[in-house]
Amino acid sequence: MRTPTKIEELDLYVWEGKADIVERVARCMASFDVDVIRADDIAISPERTATRPSLAIISVSAIDSGALALRDWRALGMPVVWVGAAPRDHDPTMYPTEYSHILPADFTAAELRGMIVKLVQQVRAHSAQTLSPTTLVANSESMQALLREVDTFADCDTSVLVGGETGVGKERIAQLLHEKHSRYGAGPFVAVNCGAIPDGLFESLFFGHAKGSFTGAVLAHKGYFEQADGGTLFLDEIGDLPLYQQVKLLRVLEDNAVTRIGSTTPSKLDFRLVAATNKNLPQLVKEGAFRADLYYRLAVIELRIPSLEERGAVDKIAIFKAFIASVVGAERLAVLPDLPYWLAEAVADTYFPGNVRELRNLAERIGVTVRQVGAWDAARLHRLVALARSSQPVPAENATEVLVDRSKWDMAERGRVLAALEANGWRRQDSAQYLGISRKVLWEKMRKYQIFDEEPEIRESE
Ligand SMILES: Nc1ncnc2c1ncn2[C@@H]1O[C@H](COP(=O)(O)OP(=O)(O)OP(=O)(O)O)[C@@H](O)[C@H]1O
Ligand SMILES: [Mg+2]
Repeated sequence: MRTPTKIEELDLYVWEGKADIVERVARCMASFDVDVIRADDIAISPERTATRPSLAIISVSAIDSGALALRDWRALGMPVVWVGAAPRDHDPTMYPTEYSHILPADFTAAELRGMIVKLVQQVRAHSAQTLSPTTLVANSESMQALLREVDTFADCDTSVLVGGETGVGKERIAQLLHEKHSRYGAGPFVAVNCGAIPDGLFESLFFGHAKGSFTGAVLAHKGYFEQADGGTLFLDEIGDLPLYQQVKLLRVLEDNAVTRIGSTTPSKLDFRLVAATNKNLPQLVKEGAFRADLYYRLAVIELRIPSLEERGAVDKIAIFKAFIASVVGAERLAVLPDLPYWLAEAVADTYFPGNVRELRNLAERIGVTVRQVGAWDAARLHRLVALARSSQPVPAENATEVLVDRSKWDMAERGRVLAALEANGWRRQDSAQYLGISRKVLWEKMRKYQIFDEEPEIRESE
């Protein structure tokens, strides 16, 4: 969480009553990275503003003209600072006192900043109920099976390759692997997007450089490998790493050491490697776009995160509810009736090609509306769901593309399972161990891919 004493990245909305208030607020906040937005019309509704302000500063003389809009602001839980003497005709029921604050008309910069810091602290404490970055909602059977796999691998040092469609939570799982690991969990988690490394910068970014090694290298600089020492190096979008960079990566992984540019002494490294991609790496290997040796080095353990469709309604609804709660807030939600049945059903019936990320967007939009209105307003929520469905770019061709991709992945996995069984004389315990998965997961995969042996052991359920 950001430190509450800093007040950067804030929008302050200031409503004029007395002409000079906006200018004075802006002057007082000049040394902070705060946007002071002047709103001439206090009656403006929150829906019509592009960003949701963190705080409103309103001159008491403007109260009358904005009573209705204030109700919307109140629903958003936004604090208001009334500038002036005790607010004239202030109806105490109109704005909850915990969000209502008074600043004298001749406020000083110190008074204004002090108050803002205090309020920002309150607002952030309130919104801290949002899901923490590593909260993972996983109620479905397939996600539970995945989490059991994660548990099994958590305390070993081997590299893990995380696969799955876009937005399924690959980075989340990578963080979970990091945190659960007793030895590396206390160290740093360094995430690198391999699809966005500018040409010619790979060495400098990954290996770092010694002081004075080239013009402009005024200070020594640690590369990603060294930064991740003692922790986890997360190589995201690994399938997008160009071939010539793959060679360099492989060399470091094999030597477990890195030499900074301009230095001759290699430093030994100890980190856990987790890589992720939504591409089919075995396919890329076949096409010559990905080095086989690097693939084997990365995919010692392979985890595939099921898509939201595979997880089914149980996860869709649980994730949806979690994000709604994080936006609306537990207290406000507690006074509302349960999630309406029709809404849960509509979410369960919607296909989200962007997986959790897309579901999250919808949940947040719905959450904001519920928070504003203070009710499950069927008409407005229907519109939001319909909008989410209509904006999905899934005409027939795209849909088949997704299916084809998945079936390619499945074919590759089926092949691996079959090979493991054959290599281990079809003994399930040994084959599961060989694949680094549990017997139950192996059994599930055999059932899914319709792999059967003559032996009755394999056919019976466990
Ligand atoms: N099981 C989950 N519970 C709660 N939130 C989740 C879960 N899975 C993913 N998220 C959230 O969904 C969003 C997408 O997750 P993440 O970035 O980990 O996906 P990804 O697979 O790495 O996506 P991409 O392929 O686009 O890189 C994030 O906001 C993440 O916090
Ligand atoms: Mg990602």
